[in-house]
Amino acid sequence: MTDRYAVVGNPISHSQSPLIHAEFARQTSQKLTYERLLAPLDGFATTVQQFVSEGGKGVNITIPFKLEARQMATQLTERARLADAVNTLTFKDGEIFGDNTDGIGLVRDIVQNLDFAIAGKRVLVLGAGGAVRGVLLPLLEQNPASLTVVNRTVSKAQDLATAFAAQGKIEACGYEALNGQQFDIIINGTSSSLNDELPPIPNGIFAEGSLAYDMMYSSGLTPFLRRGQQENAAMLADGLGMLVEQAAEAFLIWRGVMPETRTVMGLLREVLS
Ligand code: ATR
Repeated sequence: MTDRYAVVGNPISHSQSPLIHAEFARQTSQKLTYERLLAPLDGFATTVQQFVSEGGKGVNITIPFKLEARQMATQLTERARLADAVNTLTFKDGEIFGDNTDGIGLVRDIVQNLDFAIAGKRVLVLGAGGAVRGVLLPLLEQNPASLTVVNRTVSKAQDLATAFAAQGKIEACGYEALNGQQFDIIINGTSSSLNDELPPIPNGIFAEGSLAYDMMYSSGLTPFLRRGQQENAAMLADGLGMLVEQAAEAFLIWRGVMPETRTVMGLLREVLS
């Protein structure tokens, strides 16, 4: 029987994961299927259990089920535990293994695809929701000179700084406190781009040679990336590479083979344009 995988979410019709995994499978000559599963908002666990009973080997999880997926896992990696969210479940020997590949996906996109080192850099992350929580450990593991989390609701940024204090040097602040500071890497992890909004960053925070990275992907520049462009950031990137890299890490977990990501990124860019 061909191994079955799926992405579970609500909504799910927009998910590009089936295309990405089909391309990985073709490229690595792995026999598998990868489908979209729409779970009712109150029926995540039932949907997943049904899939497992039909022989499903693993699922990716997207909005709004990453917390529930964490609760469903019988074993968790350290990065999933700290992210407090799971985007990859593997079903094996009666166990449910939970992992989170979002952060490593972001780091690989920046360090390998964009060839932009994080080590020794001043890193600023905008936002303090689930998306940001998911990427902090892999960012800290790169040993940046500093990692600052900024949020409109400062207490949420402070909570994250406290939760990750044992993992590295991490600070929290509000947007006004950024006045007069500069950063080498600024990552937008807020949901502002969804509403075509710009987080209230002051002018002048993009250091010379800096990278502006938006974790959202879009066919044009997001308001945040437009600001980076105006402020002469040396490099602008959206989250398409992160999307493909987090999928590649899930593929590695499931199949033991690391797929090549660059061609899939090119393909996806064409599909989305
Ligand atoms: P996600 O799971 O995508 O992280 P979330 O947990 O709802 O979603 O978090 C959304 C994040 O985007 C929050 O940090 C939010 O800031 P607040 O906590 O202060 O609300 C941030 N956010 C959303 N729209 C924003 C905007 N226009 N400017 C700045 N921050 C914004």
